[in-house]
Amino acid sequence: LKITAYGVRELEEPYFNRLNTAGFDLKFVRDLLTHDNVAEAADADAVLVRGNCVVDRQNLAKFADWGIKAVFTRSVGFNHMDLQAAADLNIAMARVPGYSPYAVAELAFTLGMSLFRHVNLAVNQTRQADFTIGKALFSKEIHTATVGIMGAGRIGLTEAKLYQGLGAHVLGYDPYPSPAAKAAIELVDLPTLLAQSDIVSIHVPYFPGKNDNLADADFIAQMKPGAVLINTARGELASVPAVLAGLKSGQLSGYGADVILDEVAILGKKFPRLEDLPNPEVRQLLAAYPQVLITPHVGSYTEPALEDMIRISYENFQEFFATGQTANAIQA
Ligand code: COI
Repeated sequence: LKITAYGVRELEEPYFNRLNTAGFDLKFVRDLLTHDNVAEAADADAVLVRGNCVVDRQNLAKFADWGIKAVFTRSVGFNHMDLQAAADLNIAMARVPGYSPYAVAELAFTLGMSLFRHVNLAVNQTRQADFTIGKALFSKEIHTATVGIMGAGRIGLTEAKLYQGLGAHVLGYDPYPSPAAKAAIELVDLPTLLAQSDIVSIHVPYFPGKNDNLADADFIAQMKPGAVLINTARGELASVPAVLAGLKSGQLSGYGADVILDEVAILGKKFPRLEDLPNPEVRQLLAAYPQVLITPHVGSYTEPALEDMIRISYENFQEFFATGQTANAIQA
């Protein structure tokens, strides 16, 4: 069974090979799937992608022409997959519903703590030989603070546990809370979570056209003055103008994000200067450093998460080619 896997970094290849106990015939493509490199899959039986691969109708139509029946993603999020086009073309889609939840949770937590203790401001100051200690560096302690987890799934609950370990009071909001969520955290409505939390961390899926700009001006206005907002889910979930206005007014003291808008055009590339970034809102956000900390979507870039992504993807392919279905199917 020939599988073309897109977006496989050199570092990842040994993991793909070591975990390939089923003996798949693998072809690795370094770049994410685009309209330009789609032909790398021309002789494949199946395709494996990751987030930010362009899995649109145009590319899916080519896959269908080449007889490809399965296009699976090794990400949790599947907002990059055109599910309707896949259904129309009789291509099966599946995802990895979860990998080590510590991967994203630890990064969200680290960004949150860094901003909460003003490490961003302090380090930026000392780098400029400024050792004064102004009001902006004065901090609470996390065990006296409240953290709001929006989206109490596996990642959100793992982050909750990390904060609880430090003695923080953790609130959660989730419209469909699992028994695990009910057992682990105090579930409240969203206005309560926003009003009481010193750090709000977003862990909800992005549904294009449905929850864009979830963290908008109204959301930020409902937050506790001076709170920190963390987004490790998808860039589209936070309104950049609202975040920047919140930072300017002091309503927000910091914004930490592992995700940005236009990742397809930006991730994996090195631009000569900030001004060369193709998206003006991303430029504005980065220019707001040190109040804003942005990482290049590396939440899941850990060894345990990588191993889970690969192993579960292989299981998805094995199940699909044995039975015609997978438990991890995603459908329009
Ligand atoms: C996801 O799993 O949804 C991610 O954001 C990780 C990345 C490989 C796209």
